[in-house]
Amino acid sequence: MKNLAIFASGTGSNAERLMSYFRDSGYAVVKLVVCNNPSAGVLEIARRNGVEVLLQDNSIFSGDGASLVDELKHRNIDLIVLAGFLRKIPVSLIHSFSDRIINIHPALLPKFGGKGMFGDNVHQAVLAAHEKETGITIHLVNEEYDKGRILFQGKCMLHENDTVADVRAKVHELEHRFFPEEVERYIKGI
Ligand code: GAR
Repeated sequence: MKNLAIFASGTGSNAERLMSYFRDSGYAVVKLVVCNNPSAGVLEIARRNGVEVLLQDNSIFSGDGASLVDELKHRNIDLIVLAGFLRKIPVSLIHSFSDRIINIHPALLPKFGGKGMFGDNVHQAVLAAHEKETGITIHLVNEEYDKGRILFQGKCMLHENDTVADVRAKVHELEHRFFPEEVERYIKGI
């Protein structure tokens, strides 16, 4: 059985999908939610699903992250899944979980990635660039922001009158459809 830790900072709709997808899978379980935001919706989702929460101060993520590595090892975490996590991952964590951290990005990398590119900022940039399509990128995390090996991309079409809310909804739909499956596929290969 593989133990998953989800890192999330906000609403947690992807975290919720992952929890229910793996609940009875028999080969993986969401064991922990790591969150940096005391008012994030994901905290209530974790509580409802009986998943332990580790609320971490933002200073942990600007520091070396060693204490967090210890917490994760202590719980025998095999894989970290970033589901709307908005802080940079400390280097010690990336080294300790090499090829064991998966992120979902709400656009088609390598475009619209990098520092400051998260959530609606991404959708706004996509609309401002008059893109005809956008989508999701599921990728491994390395030391360079949004540049780890791509595992999966899914696309959707954009229309001229689409608002940020429209784009967000289309992207969320893709995320909810493909993210749990892709995490499953990756886990089965490790
Ligand atoms: C998702 O769209 C995810 O791709 C994005 O945050 C949203 C979280 O939604 N992540 C990033 O922008 C990371 N750069 P959720 O809290 O409802 O799962």
